[in-house]
Amino acid sequence: MIHIIVATGKRGEIGYKNQLLCHLSADLKNFKELTTGHTVLMGRKTWDSLPKKPLPNRRNIVISRNRNLQLDGAEVFTTPEAALETVRVGEEVFIIGGEQIYQLFVNKADIIHLTRIQAEFEADAYFPEMNPDDWKLIEEIPHQKDEKNSYNFVFQTFVKKK
Ligand SMILES: NC(=O)c1ccc[n+]([C@@H]2O[C@H](COP(=O)([O-])OP(=O)(O)OC[C@H]3O[C@@H](n4cnc5c(N)ncnc54)[C@H](OP(=O)(O)O)[C@@H]3O)[C@@H](O)[C@H]2O)c1
Repeated sequence: MIHIIVATGKRGEIGYKNQLLCHLSADLKNFKELTTGHTVLMGRKTWDSLPKKPLPNRRNIVISRNRNLQLDGAEVFTTPEAALETVRVGEEVFIIGGEQIYQLFVNKADIIHLTRIQAEFEADAYFPEMNPDDWKLIEEIPHQKDEKNSYNFVFQTFVKKK
């Protein structure tokens, strides 16, 4: 099963200068709960942006065109296909970004966990357009801003239509 997990602003923005848009405590907790014990797959730039790496208690996979790249705590593959070939039956793979990697996997994913932040941010990285004919919204949980979360946001779950 291939999951995509992403947080966007109102315009589909996901990052700026290789950093996230903002830090929402509840979103980071949700990310940790969903991905722990599973496999996370990311682009080399997202790997570079992680404050702490590898992400603990998860199989970390990084995609890079650099054939000589070696990373402590991560497996590096030079194509998405080569990475997917190593995934076992029953392994849950979470595509965790960034823009280039979401573009490569949005048509391969079975489920999208989208945190829609109710704000607009300065950005240079975006999530690809989701075709409404392809995705069915199955869950929507709104959250109000509070002392640990500076913005209102909604957790949305989409599954690929059959
Ligand atoms: N809001 C969110 O949920 C979220 C989540 C994750 C990331 N982000 C943000 O997204 C931004 C980063 O996105 P990005 O698009 O710049 O970078 P990225 O997708 O993280 O990584 C891009 C890199 O992946 C490798 N790559 C891309 N396509 C490839 C292919 N077909 N085959 C082999 N390797 C390939 C290349 O690495 P090499 O250059 O090493 O060859 C490329 O430079 C940051 O701002 C980050 O904070 C946001």
